Amino acid sequence: MRVAALASGRGSNLAALIAARLPIEFVLVGSDKASAGALAVAAESGIPTVALNPRDYATRTDFDRALFGRVADAGADLLVLAGFMRIIDAGVVADWEGRAINVHPSLLPKYRGLHTHRRCLEAGDAEHGASVHFVTAELDGGPVVAQARIPVRQDDTEASLATRLLVEEHRLLPAVVGAIASGRLRWEGGAVFDGDPLTTPLDITELL
Ligand code: GRF
Repeated sequence: MRVAALASGRGSNLAALIAARLPIEFVLVGSDKASAGALAVAAESGIPTVALNPRDYATRTDFDRALFGRVADAGADLLVLAGFMRIIDAGVVADWEGRAINVHPSLLPKYRGLHTHRRCLEAGDAEHGASVHFVTAELDGGPVVAQARIPVRQDDTEASLATRLLVEEHRLLPAVVGAIASGRLRWEGGAVFDGDPLTTPLDITELL
C-alpha cells in the first residue's frame, strides 16, 4: 500500500507511523509550511517531500488542488492527515472519499477543531482521548474508525493532557493504518471492519 501524508507541524505522528515498520511504502510527505518538522522527519527517512505555500495561490481551492494533485501524482492509495492544520476544499476532499484518514486529539464527535485539551478540561470530562476518522468535507466530522482513551487527572493541565494523549495518538494512528494495509479495515461506501459495517468506533485494543 502506497501511503502519503500531509502535516503542518513537528511530525511526531508521522515519525510514529514510520517507526511502526508497517508493510507500506511512503510515497510523499507534503506540507503547507516549508519549516514543518514533519518534512525533516520524512527527509531523514528518505521519503520525498513537497511544501507548497498557500500564499502562492489565488484561492484556497487552487492551493488544495495543487497539493492534493501532488499526492495523487505520487500514486498514493491512502492519504494520512497527521496534524495537517487546514480546512480542505469540499470538492478536493470528495476525490479522496474512503482513502484519507485524520488523527484528531479528542473523543469525536466531542471537540472538533482546535484547543481540544482545554475544552476537555473546561467541560470537567473524566476522560479524554484521540480519534482516527475517515476524512469528509466536514472538519473532523467523518466516520470515526478507532479511538484511544486516557483518564483525566485532577491536576491535569492542557500541557500534561496533550503530552499523555500524544503517546496514545502514536499507537492509534499506526494501528489504524496497519488495519487498512492488512485489509481488515476497508471502505465500501462506509467503514467496514472484519467484514462488518463499523457502527461504533473501535477501541484501539481491538486493533492491537
Ligand atoms: C496532534 O495532536 C494531532 O492530533 C494534531 O496536531 C498534533 C500534531 O502533532 N491535530 P505532530 O505534528 O504529529 O507531532
